Amino acid sequence: MMPWKLLDSAQVPESGEELCLYQRGGEFSIRVNGRELMNSRAHGSEEALAELACVRIAHHPCPRVLIGGLGLGYTTAAALHRLGADGQVVVAELVPAVAAWNRGPLADLAGRPLDDARVTVREADIARILQAERRAYDAILLDVDNGPAGLTWKGNDWLYARAGLDAAYAALKAAGVLAVWSASPDRAFAKRLRRAGFEVTEVCVRAQGWGGGRHIIWLAVRK
Ligand SMILES: C[S@@+](CC[C@H](N)C(=O)[O-])C[C@H]1O[C@@H](n2cnc3c(N)ncnc32)[C@H](O)[C@@H]1O
Repeated sequence: MMPWKLLDSAQVPESGEELCLYQRGGEFSIRVNGRELMNSRAHGSEEALAELACVRIAHHPCPRVLIGGLGLGYTTAAALHRLGADGQVVVAELVPAVAAWNRGPLADLAGRPLDDARVTVREADIARILQAERRAYDAILLDVDNGPAGLTWKGNDWLYARAGLDAAYAALKAAGVLAVWSASPDRAFAKRLRRAGFEVTEVCVRAQGWGGGRHIIWLAVRK
């Protein structure tokens, strides 16, 4: 089997952990301290995250979507595919190198979404954006980690806790959707979403279209 080749590495701001980009033939992998965060072989559920949320806001005029984080760009590309010419996508990415990789070796994986004029990349923690904005987005798509449990970065705890959910609620417009990706079910998190005032649907999606592992997406609508 072809060996993995290390293309680049970068430090995660504040945590100081190491994020590495690997390539093996046409396959790419992003790892944190050796643990895989994202692989280009399976991206069905990352695309479903955008599709399920964007379908629900299709009738909103000039929809604005906030995505965190960028990863390999599949969620961003799927959102652009679903939104019309009047849609806008803001992508929050904590690690500036990930944005650079998406303009370089990863650009063609998801069809060069960052070249789309509807996209703005903010090299920032999505938490800072949620804390600063009010009634600004029709949808917020959260895929910054493995889900509410088993976090790679401890700093992301806040996003999945009540304070982060309250901030997301406030950053959404009326009938806006918070969509959250997770590698596994989490009943306590679904309860937390409901307590924060959202109307919640839990969807089980496959990692690769009709196959692969099962992932969870919560669709939480602001009432
Ligand atoms: C699992 S990947 C996202 C995969 C993406 N959905 C896709 O389609 O490829 C997680 C991304 O979130 C970024 N990230 C982690 N914590 C973040 C935060 N607090 N704010 C913004 N981006 C963050 C990571 O650097 C990484 O690029």
